[in-house]
Amino acid sequence: MFWKKKNKPAEAVRVDERLQHIAFIMDGNGRWAQRRGMPREYGHSHGAATFKKIGRYCEKIGLRYMTVYAFSTENWKRPQKEVDTIMKVFDEYIEQCFLEMEEDNVHFQFIGNLSIFSAELQEKMARIDRETAHKPFVLNIAVNYGGREEITHACNELIRAGKTEVTEADISAHIYTAGCPDPDLIVRSGGDLRSSNFLLWQSAYSEYYYTDVLWPDFSAEDVDRAVAAFYSRKRRYGGV
Ligand code: FPP
Repeated sequence: MFWKKKNKPAEAVRVDERLQHIAFIMDGNGRWAQRRGMPREYGHSHGAATFKKIGRYCEKIGLRYMTVYAFSTENWKRPQKEVDTIMKVFDEYIEQCFLEMEEDNVHFQFIGNLSIFSAELQEKMARIDRETAHKPFVLNIAVNYGGREEITHACNELIRAGKTEVTEADISAHIYTAGCPDPDLIVRSGGDLRSSNFLLWQSAYSEYYYTDVLWPDFSAEDVDRAVAAFYSRKRRYGGV
């Protein structure tokens, strides 16, 4: 009896309509590199590879939306060399998206205050978004993103549109993720227990899952663990 159980192939994880959107705070790249005696930048290159792998896995298990925190409005405070490396990794990623976007099932969206980037990069991001808009799996990449900046930006847009009083629906329609359902689950790697200005408006009723695993080590099994934790919880949305 026991041997039969042992040889049974692992059940493939599939999500259902209760879990459509996972957002990731990809933390721990720097420590991962330092533990290997390498500069922090080395961790970001590995973090980017992990991000691609986890993206493919999230699509495979049936998620409809994924959001990642690639660079925050506060990350500019890091040493210039580290900022340059993250931007180089990001640039290379955009270039790859641009070349391969037709083959993927992914609708790439770039969220955050993108006005800081060169006109050329902004145009490239807009074109990738436009030309992949018909694809079924939505991937939001948050870059120069801050939750407070996002809400402030939404309010300023509403003021510019002539509003003198706003509703929750107005703000939801003007945040960077407008049109995308709020994340059901927010996963943070790297062991810290905080939201770090990520999706402040959208996370009102998100479930959180924290793990000590450093982002470059984050695996499909870690996604499965987060998914299992999500399904073990009861979402009450303030009710009983
Ligand atoms: C946090 O780890 C990670 C970042 C600030 C950058 C995340 C960037 C990537 C994963 C690569 C680029 C992304 C894309 C979309 C191509 P940390 O540096 O704060 O790590 P630490 O907490 O160990 O210092």
